[in-house]
Amino acid sequence: MRITQKYTLLAYAGLLLLAGCDKSGQDVAAPAAEKYVFSIPANLAASVPTPERNPTTKEGILLGRMLFYDPVLSKNGNVSCATCHQPDKAFTDGKALSTAGVSGKPLLRHVPTLANVAWMQGLFWDDGAKDLESLSFGPLTHPDEMGQNLKELARKLQQHAKYPAMFRKAFGTDSITSAAIGRALAQFQRTLISGNSRYDKYIRNEAGSSLTALELNGLVLFKEHCSSCHTSDFFTDNQYHNNGLDAAYSDANEAMEYGRGRITHAPEDIGKYKTPTLRNIALTAPYMHDGRFTTLEQVLEHYASGVIASATLAPELQKQERLGIPLTQAEKESIIQFLGTLTDEEFVKNPELQPVRE
Ligand code: HEC
Ligand code: HEC
Repeated sequence: MRITQKYTLLAYAGLLLLAGCDKSGQDVAAPAAEKYVFSIPANLAASVPTPERNPTTKEGILLGRMLFYDPVLSKNGNVSCATCHQPDKAFTDGKALSTAGVSGKPLLRHVPTLANVAWMQGLFWDDGAKDLESLSFGPLTHPDEMGQNLKELARKLQQHAKYPAMFRKAFGTDSITSAAIGRALAQFQRTLISGNSRYDKYIRNEAGSSLTALELNGLVLFKEHCSSCHTSDFFTDNQYHNNGLDAAYSDANEAMEYGRGRITHAPEDIGKYKTPTLRNIALTAPYMHDGRFTTLEQVLEHYASGVIASATLAPELQKQERLGIPLTQAEKESIIQFLGTLTDEEFVKNPELQPVRE
């Protein structure tokens, strides 16, 4: 039987109280859980997209934050989400391909940042996940990531000294389910909002904010050459493109190298990857879906003179006789200076996004 979702909204002493039922009959949010009010930088968006079945509450975020940093989630008790998504690296890991999972085997793709993940319209490099609520089951169960059996995990958390009370506070239920684990992790991840870099303050015209002449020149060049794909203040168009990294794509490992084509099976999508955000890019080296470039200089070198032809290469990169984007050395340097203004120290140091101190 399908029980329709229902929320009771009660305003009381400045708090919004949320209660509700899920398809499975499980509480969506505990009756007393306090609705979380996002603070969103004005140039980003007016609201945070949130599914109705998982309203964001203070209790849910705290639980998600505990879980995100807790290696108890992995099979061997050594790997947490934050092993690969580290706050000081804007929730990346500094590796081309991580070997930090429970098997020690290298992963097939590079760890992307989680900054502003709430607004990402496609998840993973190829849109291989439906939503943040379900995405966590990927890393949790993957044999080369956390290697966990979800039933076993729920059982483990049920016996934990702290978690049962936290799940009760967040979701009003005494039985811990994998759905609730996914929801709590999603709630925390929606709070990973980055929009207070020097660039943002400059764009918002905040007192004392400015960019240097070199950075401003880089911004102009960036708008001209890069922003068709790295669009808006999210620095992504949420689309899939082939930016000329390879001539051919192997179908080994479940066609991982097909990129978006792995999901759609369409020949026109082979070799296309999601445009990654460039926020905090100076902190998230190495670069590209396989981490092949160690520096931003190498990335700019790629766009200027390393673009390789293949069937699905982006039209923007074949407008000139020579493939790629024509850039002088000075122009490349200006763009790199501009990219440096996207580093958001407040985000990477935000105490509310760090491990919970007990
Ligand atoms: C062993 C390393 C590792 C661990 C542990 C790990 N991840 Fe990831 N994560 C990755 C990699 C690699 C990708 C990119 C995979 C792809 O796109 O195919 C990724 C992608 C993601 C994305 C998609 C971001 C985007 O840009 O689309 C989210 C969200 C995410 N991980 C959350 C989590 C959460 C939550 C956990 C813990 C439950 C976790 N990860 C644990 C390596 C890891
Ligand atoms: C045709 C669309 C397009 C254009 C134009 C474009 N990019 Fe990209 N960019 C992408 C895509 C797609 C990726 C990811 C490709 C992959 O990993 O396979 C990417 C990756 C990157 C990365 C690595 C990000 C990371 O987290 O690994 C950087 C840095 C970057 N681009 C900067 C630029 C700059 C600077 C310009 C302008 C000189 C530019 N891009 C122009 C689509 C584009």
